[in-house]
Amino acid sequence: MITKKALENIKKLLKKHNQSHLLAFWEQLNTAQRQNLLAQIEELDFSKMDDLVANHIKKPAFSAIGADFAPARSYSPNPADAEQKHKYAQAGELGRELISAGKVAAFIVAGGQGTRFGFDSPKGNFPISPVKNKTLFRIFAETIAAVSEKYQTICPWYIMTSPLNYAQTKEIFSSNNYYGLRESDIFIFQQGTLPNFSFDGKILLADKDKISCSPDGHGGSLKALYQSGALEDMKKRGVEFASYFQVDNPLINIFDPLFIGLHALDEAEMSSKAVVKTEPKEKVGVFCLVDGKVTVIEYSDLPEELTEKRNPDGSLVFGLGSIAIHIIDCTFVEKLNARGFSLPLHRAIKKIPHIDEKGRPVEPAEPNGIKLESFVFDALPLASKSIILQTLRSEEFSPVKNPTGPDSAETAKEMMIARAAGWLESAGVTVPRKPGDSVDATLEIAPSFALEKDDIKAKLNQIPEIKPNDKLYLA
Ligand code: UD1
Repeated sequence: MITKKALENIKKLLKKHNQSHLLAFWEQLNTAQRQNLLAQIEELDFSKMDDLVANHIKKPAFSAIGADFAPARSYSPNPADAEQKHKYAQAGELGRELISAGKVAAFIVAGGQGTRFGFDSPKGNFPISPVKNKTLFRIFAETIAAVSEKYQTICPWYIMTSPLNYAQTKEIFSSNNYYGLRESDIFIFQQGTLPNFSFDGKILLADKDKISCSPDGHGGSLKALYQSGALEDMKKRGVEFASYFQVDNPLINIFDPLFIGLHALDEAEMSSKAVVKTEPKEKVGVFCLVDGKVTVIEYSDLPEELTEKRNPDGSLVFGLGSIAIHIIDCTFVEKLNARGFSLPLHRAIKKIPHIDEKGRPVEPAEPNGIKLESFVFDALPLASKSIILQTLRSEEFSPVKNPTGPDSAETAKEMMIARAAGWLESAGVTVPRKPGDSVDATLEIAPSFALEKDDIKAKLNQIPEIKPNDKLYLA
């Protein structure tokens, strides 16, 4: 029951923050619709509303580029000298110990809508492996199973979805029997949302009783981990580190002992993997040091002259690209939430369907409003320490982002085949190649067969001769 007084208070609050239009259709709503709408209004954070509208909606706000701005330093893929060689060996050992002790969990962000990609299902359900056509989710699940087996442990998997694809994702996992993992070791949860605004700072209505909202970005994952109980579950299991990755990268090495070990040895709170950018305009965030803190500047936010700037040897000054792979301490997530979770908000100008002041549905042909998102990498400068490990793109990064061309399913498949060929050749297997060196076979190595190059050597007797144009699946 909504009392007259309660309604008056809400009206006053909305008026104070210039959002009275949210109740414009109140008289036309039934009781359930009214309650529904009020519940959504109560979810809005009015303490920040005016600042949000003034500083994020009406003008672009966030810029991490200050006066003290420099490229970030990183660990190279291979140790540079004897001292570093010793450290890498020590880190690898520590990483393996931490995995074996069940202190590392897999943590995927899979809440994106994939609009750029044009696939009408959660992206994790996209089939990608070159021979068996396994989906992204299946590849990750089989990797987690193989790691658990190799290290004789249980690696739980935390999966963040958005309210838009939560039910579908749950259904995909249950209809695939959790890909052979135990249901109790998989924790699927939802990220939060933020309201969408018109350019003049008014929250848009999706319907007469429905505020227009969008997922709050992958930065919301650090809040959702806490609010969903996932973090509590990690603590109960003794998990100390979350291995964070994106749903679009089939080459991900989820449990990398070296990365985990370097992060732990250096007592970092949140760390990252990086690759050298292929070209200045590659659409990846760039690692920088801002006021001495590791920071990622999104490709669209880095000024052109810095994007193009080169060292005397021709390499890019800001050439360290973020591949959205992190190790995050559970205590760091807890700390961020305990002090009132807040990451900077980034605005995106979008076409946002809504209803107009007469309640008529509008499908805009041109951008008409602003969506707000937070980015997980904005937590990096908040960490007491943050390290970066450079890795090889050919081994760990081939995102499926576009329907065709660069970063598409086609390039990801090619890279999966190329990596499999490289692993086999490094163990002495002959792989047929075409003139120009591309692999002349379709190869797929299941995670159960090898998680890394070095696993191949022990299985040489299971590998048949590979002839040109063969299709070979190793499991
Ligand atoms: C992202 C990074 C970019 C990085 C690149 C590497 C951003 C803004 N940029 O680009 O720095 O170099 O990946 O591939 O992130 N997601 C959610 N909830 C959301 C939004 C996104 O879970 O509300 C998830 C997606 O499912 C996906 C990931 O976050 O797994 C990345 O989102 P996407 O929008 O695809 O980022 P990109 O622009 O491709």
